[in-house]
Amino acid sequence: MKSLEESVVIVTGAAIGIGFAIASHLAERGAKVMIADRDGAPAAAQKLSALGYQAAACAVDVSSPEQVNAMISATIERYGRIDSLVNNAGIYSTLKPKPFEELEVEEWRRVFDVNVIGVFLCCKAVFAEFKKNGGGRVVNISSGVAFKGNPWMAHYVASKGAVVSLTRSLATEMGKHGVLVNSVAPGFTLSEGVNRNAALVAGVKEPSLRNRIIGRDMLPEDLAGAIEFFCSAQSSFITGQTLVVDGGAYFH
Ligand code: NAI
Repeated sequence: MKSLEESVVIVTGAAIGIGFAIASHLAERGAKVMIADRDGAPAAAQKLSALGYQAAACAVDVSSPEQVNAMISATIERYGRIDSLVNNAGIYSTLKPKPFEELEVEEWRRVFDVNVIGVFLCCKAVFAEFKKNGGGRVVNISSGVAFKGNPWMAHYVASKGAVVSLTRSLATEMGKHGVLVNSVAPGFTLSEGVNRNAALVAGVKEPSLRNRIIGRDMLPEDLAGAIEFFCSAQSSFITGQTLVVDGGAYFH
């Protein structure tokens, strides 16, 4: 596999928050990044380009097969190849915590469309390119809630459990083509989106801090090293795994 310095990485949902921190970190390490997001991708790519990093932008809704295919084509057109895909785009920070019996089917469908079907579509679309190259890396962003079963967001919790299972299933199918598929499960992270949701911060920040061994708030930058690892040659014998990155709140 290419070293990270020469590799091309797509990060979905990278305009802000955790995705932007991942894209910044990988770009700083020398990767060529494609910032793919429904909103704000050009401005985010511009921020990285202004720092002298290699970054391009693509507008995409990951729940649209056509737009996801266009994202893959745009990346190949821009950089000539794709080495890694980080499936970070997700609906979380805009959700209002509520009891499961108040959730409507439409809310479930929207969360699953983006958080689960979006991951499937991006993996499906990049697979031909990975096969052609003899391999590739996929890193899916799950969540610690998949293991803890947190209340008040049943649709979200279930969607992130599905990401863990999908990671395992795709690792099994894609492995013979040299594609390694892993997942990172963050704890409660003060991302831009989360900071805008006062109800979420009020309900989750303090309990998260109390249950964590490393006694401070988790920031988007805290995830970047784990993602770099799964995109690099250092993890070349690891697939189908989920690494919990949460300051020691949950032992997986
Ligand atoms: P955020 O809300 O700050 O950012 C999400 C980004 O995804 C935004 O740029 C948004 O435009 C983009 N996005 C949303 N739907 C999209 C779609 N259909 N197509 C393309 N882009 C789309 O979120 P945050 O907090 O940075 O979370 C990022 C990921 O990490 C999500 O998958 C989330 O579920 C996961 N996560 C977040 C945790 C947290 O506490 N912040 C904890 C565990 C997991």
